[in-house]
Amino acid sequence: MYLDSFFQAMAEFESEGNPQVHKNLSREQFPAYVRQLHDQSIGKNLKDGYIPSKEFWIVDRDGYAGRIILGLTFTPTPEKLGHHVGYAVRPSKRRHGYATKALEALLDEARKLGIHKLMPTCDAANIASRKVIERSGGSLLNPEARVGELRFLIDLDADSSLRASSSTRNADEMG
Ligand SMILES: CC(C)(COP(=O)(O)OP(=O)(O)OC[C@H]1O[C@@H](n2cnc3c(N)ncnc32)[C@H](O)[C@@H]1OP(=O)(O)O)[C@@H](O)C(=O)NCCC(=O)NCCS
Repeated sequence: MYLDSFFQAMAEFESEGNPQVHKNLSREQFPAYVRQLHDQSIGKNLKDGYIPSKEFWIVDRDGYAGRIILGLTFTPTPEKLGHHVGYAVRPSKRRHGYATKALEALLDEARKLGIHKLMPTCDAANIASRKVIERSGGSLLNPEARVGELRFLIDLDADSSLRASSSTRNADEMG
């Protein structure tokens, strides 16, 4: 079931012009793809410019619903204050609270890994993503930006009361 739902999800991403894996990934290549994700999580065979990262899949009773990724290393710069976070929910599963719930769960994983500063970004026009980040306690670092990339910091060392009170509407379906 997961394999079918995975490929159905990839087709959905593809048809909205937002591919999540390389276009011609076949079922035969799927095990190698999963191995590559595992390698990526331990920093093995990294492609140029890639950092180690852990990918988690969002699943519900229908199978694959999306993914969320945590960068395991980062080089601090004035612009880069925390670990990379990326996520995508397949189009047919959006607006059920999955991304919100996934980011909350990722914060717990980050804590376990000793990661306390995360820096999700999103386009200023991406209202859904902005809501997801702010619900998890993301503070906007560049409020002057009206277009282009918004940068947020989630500081797990800071007071977590905002996250504790955040809503997880409809997220009870998640597996
Ligand atoms: C951004 C994304 C991950 C959100 O996933 P999701 O599971 O639908 O998010 P949630 O259901 O947790 O919704 C979070 C909030 O955004 C709102 N929202 C979702 N889609 C929206 C849209 N298209 N326009 C406006 N608000 C939207 C939800 O209604 C919810 O707010 P509410 O509870 O006040 O109603 C998903 O839209 C996606 O995969 N987009 C393409 C990839 C992407 O943009 N990734 C993030 C890159 S920074």
